[in-house]
Amino acid sequence: MTRLAGKTTLITGAARGIGLAFAKAYVAEGARVAIADIDITRARKVAAEIGDPALAIEMDITNQSSIDQAVAQTLAHFGPIEILVNNAAIFTAAPITEIERADFNRVFDINVAGTLFTMQAVARHMIAHGVKGRIINMASQAGRRGEPLVAVYCASKAAIISLTQSAGLNLIQHGINVNAIAPGVVDGEHWDGVDAFFAKHEGKAPGQKKREVAAAVPYGRMGRAEDLTGMAVFLASDEAKYIVAQTYNVDGGNWMS
Ligand SMILES: NC(=O)c1ccc[n+]([C@@H]2O[C@H](COP(=O)([O-])OP(=O)(O)OC[C@H]3O[C@@H](n4cnc5c(N)ncnc54)[C@H](O)[C@@H]3O)[C@@H](O)[C@H]2O)c1
Repeated sequence: MTRLAGKTTLITGAARGIGLAFAKAYVAEGARVAIADIDITRARKVAAEIGDPALAIEMDITNQSSIDQAVAQTLAHFGPIEILVNNAAIFTAAPITEIERADFNRVFDINVAGTLFTMQAVARHMIAHGVKGRIINMASQAGRRGEPLVAVYCASKAAIISLTQSAGLNLIQHGINVNAIAPGVVDGEHWDGVDAFFAKHEGKAPGQKKREVAAAVPYGRMGRAEDLTGMAVFLASDEAKYIVAQTYNVDGGNWMS
């Protein structure tokens, strides 16, 4: 299929998990993808597996010069960026009484400021190159409502939904569509960490939290990264050109809005 034929794409945090699944799905649709990640060893490995349409880029979204270099490297290798997926993020959890300022700052620096300033750099780049592009931000069901032990991560994802609205409204005048995807619970290394946290703080057996959240999904199981690729391809495609500033739940029925 070639719904994204020849499209230059930058995906942050694409060395594993959901970002990697998006990279593979975009390449399958004809796109060329910069796999940008702070973990360059893994980015190189997966880019080599994908082959010529993939380029590994070392990128730390908390660092402005790293953001600018990633944009420049993608331009030099593939041409102007037409699709950006702001996917890199980290998880944290603690009861309100135990949240540490340093942890809050780290999560907001990556999840919120990293997303915002990558979006800004790529939007400037798209405008300068006359690209009517697509920006997709990764929100979460965690951004739809708070959770007792997950205040900071939930707040960071609520900020992504809000930034997507503001950026979507501001950038559509340039023909740049900004939208977001809000996954539910997607199994993988991210959720291995979440499960370990709940094992520690709620005394659950390893794997128990995963089983509980899986049983609570109306669809009947946790998500897989591949469950999200249809929405990611659709939002990047021409079919989605009239969609502006929205956040779509892809979560097996967990949340309604
Ligand atoms: N897995 C889930 O259940 C779930 C649910 C809702 C939302 N999400 C969101 O979807 C996105 C992807 O999730 P995932 O499960 O694939 O996560 P993941 O932890 O498996 O992958 C995140 C990637 O981001 C990279 N990264 C971390 N900090 C970075 C930085 N400063 N600069 C560049 N790269 C950095 C990591 O190296 C890693 O490769 C995230 O935004 C996450 O919050 C995930």
